[in-house]
Amino acid sequence: MSISDKIIELQAAAEAAMAKASTTAALEDVRVEFLGRKAELPNLLRGVAELPPQERGAVGKAANEARKSLERQLDQKAGQLAVAELDTRLEQDRVDVTLPADPLPAIGRLHLITQTRREIEDVFIGLGYAIADGPEVETVYYNFDALNHDATHPARAWTDTFYISDDVLLRTHTSPMQVRSMELQKPPIYVIVPGRVYRRDSDITHTPQFHQIEGLAVDEGITLTDLKGTLLTFARAIFGPEREIRLRPHFFPFTEPSVEVDVSCFNCHNGVLDNGDRCGLCKGTAWIEILGSGMVDPNVLLHVKDNGYDPETVQGFAFGMGIERIAMLKHGVTDLRLFYDNDIRFLEQFA
Ligand code: DAH
Repeated sequence: MSISDKIIELQAAAEAAMAKASTTAALEDVRVEFLGRKAELPNLLRGVAELPPQERGAVGKAANEARKSLERQLDQKAGQLAVAELDTRLEQDRVDVTLPADPLPAIGRLHLITQTRREIEDVFIGLGYAIADGPEVETVYYNFDALNHDATHPARAWTDTFYISDDVLLRTHTSPMQVRSMELQKPPIYVIVPGRVYRRDSDITHTPQFHQIEGLAVDEGITLTDLKGTLLTFARAIFGPEREIRLRPHFFPFTEPSVEVDVSCFNCHNGVLDNGDRCGLCKGTAWIEILGSGMVDPNVLLHVKDNGYDPETVQGFAFGMGIERIAMLKHGVTDLRLFYDNDIRFLEQFA
């Protein structure tokens, strides 16, 4: 094959390879293959010197033009590919800075006490009750006197209660909000009061600070059956629609009659587990105590008689429950102190 034919063949092969190259990198490979130091075309150019003089001019010129033409085409195509590649990269790497940031991953959840409080609040809001907040630093008057506690009631003792002075203390229950609420609002009143309470107590079932929810309903013609219906609705909402409640006679200074309220055990049948064992939750009794309650004592109403609470015209019921107790029963928590240890392994279990 003559050198001229070889040049034509190489140029055609180079142009075909160039046409196939779809990236700048592939194109550079073509450049090296056909125009690099070890490529055939430059070699041919070097061989021109050995040709007979009359051929040198034409062949040298042809080879040179072929090389220049290839370089021009390579440069042109490289330019086009580079622009296309930049376009794709810009398209793929595009960040829309106007998009809203991703929301932060959730970093926690509500404490079981808060969850339980809100659940109970929801039930009573559904029954038309308002929610009130009261002071944790309370007077002896609202905490004991106005609630009909006689002078010798044991809860008054400094060994049981945190006193700040002779007549100021950390409230031992949420019940002081009964008289406070009735001072602020004429009857009818339907209110619940969640909040912290304090007692000098500390063991597996007592902490010096815990949470209660007080309930108070005063209106004309309220009877014990209203109390029972309300608390049955509450018990079914919290512990399941199959629940029953029972009222047991009890004593509280500020209610008359007073009752303790039990819910039917949701862990067993009549005190017996499926495997025949005695139920540990209700201790085989089929009932679990959940709260204290009763009809508001007329002596309590007399403190707010001037605001419309004449015991001759209005009656009411009250109840008080421990939020921890409800949460422990419902979720099988066995040690009250777990609520306050802040061990993440405990807290995480209650989504
Ligand atoms: N205050 C009571 C306690 O802390 C609970 C209680 C019992 C509240 C009866 C009431 C009630 O409103 O009627 O043990």
